[in-house]
Amino acid sequence: MTSRTPLIAGNWKLHNTIAQSVTLATALRAELDGTSGVEIAVAPVATALHPVASALEGSPIALAAQNTHWESRGAFTGELGPALLADVGCRYVIVGHSERRQLFGETEEGVRKKVRAVQAAGLVPIVCVGETLAQREEDATLGIVLGQVDAALAGNDASRLVIAYEPVWAIGTGKTASPADAQAVHAAIRGRLSAVIGELAQRLQILYGGSVKAENARDLLSQPDIDGALVGGASLEAKSFTSIVRAAL
Ligand code: 13P
Repeated sequence: MTSRTPLIAGNWKLHNTIAQSVTLATALRAELDGTSGVEIAVAPVATALHPVASALEGSPIALAAQNTHWESRGAFTGELGPALLADVGCRYVIVGHSERRQLFGETEEGVRKKVRAVQAAGLVPIVCVGETLAQREEDATLGIVLGQVDAALAGNDASRLVIAYEPVWAIGTGKTASPADAQAVHAAIRGRLSAVIGELAQRLQILYGGSVKAENARDLLSQPDIDGALVGGASLEAKSFTSIVRAAL
């Protein structure tokens, strides 16, 4: 039923020097130049954004940032803003990753402001949502996830973003949600988006993240509401990331 183009995005997290990032980007480009039918993005560390942008210029691989502040300029020592991320060549910005929520005190209000700022700069936010293991065990998954979606979208343009469903217990653990469990959450997210933007929700990409690998990607991506993947560990090697991209075709 879907005519959505899948998106496979690699979140490199706090890994790779500039040289390592450029080497990885160059290897991906060599494998993936000419690929169509799937959108591809990588999110290097901030210091590597510019050199990776140069390495990927003219390739089908887009640049993403891992985080942003919601202000674009001013007295905010240590921050980067959406205008600078647009300036360096980003197309996407990951917003509200669970590591930022859990380790760096990111709030739902902060996520909402970041979504707005990213969109105002003409970039596409990849908004991360997901429940903890305790929340899943309490059967609170949908309430938590849809609450995060509502909070991120409040007052924002819900038709220009990507959602990434990343169960916290699946990130970096080797455990993945079963394709059916992930599909159920994705369908609920799309249902919530439909309530806000109607038919436009059918066009939005909802990615799954959490221990996606070459071996499990195809099963996950074959679900009707799973429109791609946000990949951590397996995006750090050209071979495994490329296999995941191919699994989306
Ligand atoms: P892993 O693929 O390493 O589990 O990480 C997922 C993630 O957090 C992507 O943003």
